Amino acid sequence: MTRHILFVCLGNICRSPAAEAVLRAKAARAGLMVEVDSAGTGDWHVGEPPHPPMIAAAKARGYRLEALRARQLSVSDFARFDMILTMDNANQRKASALRAQAGMGPLPQLFLRYAPDCGLTEVPDPWYTGDFDQTLDLLEAATDGLIAALLSTYQR
Ligand code: 4NP
Repeated sequence: MTRHILFVCLGNICRSPAAEAVLRAKAARAGLMVEVDSAGTGDWHVGEPPHPPMIAAAKARGYRLEALRARQLSVSDFARFDMILTMDNANQRKASALRAQAGMGPLPQLFLRYAPDCGLTEVPDPWYTGDFDQTLDLLEAATDGLIAALLSTYQR
């Protein structure tokens, strides 16, 4: 069974495309079948590749982001995905409002619920903090937790 998982942040050029690439790589290694995508609640960067410093920090850990292009979250995503994972409370509120409009589909969840020991509930926005390695540390931890949860709940 393939899970369809969507990551959501604000611009879709830093956190959610990095999460997309991290999950794709780790799921392949774990033998878990996933279709992964990402989207932003804002539309400022639609069509653009990820932010260059995010691409560089991810590349240093073996994740390739350069082919990804930003898009905006839409109501139709709630019919296409089994899980919608948000980076912070603002994204969570926007995604929850769209879910209410859709009237169907998964309830958005904060991604860091899968990294309960990291001490944070939101992934700080590296567009403002400049700390792209912190972003990747948090995304890797939550991805490991997500994969463990998926492997324990369902068959591959
Ligand atoms: P992201 O970071 O939500 O992790 O992609 C941001 C990127 C761009 C902007 C804000 C956050 N912006 O305001 O343009």
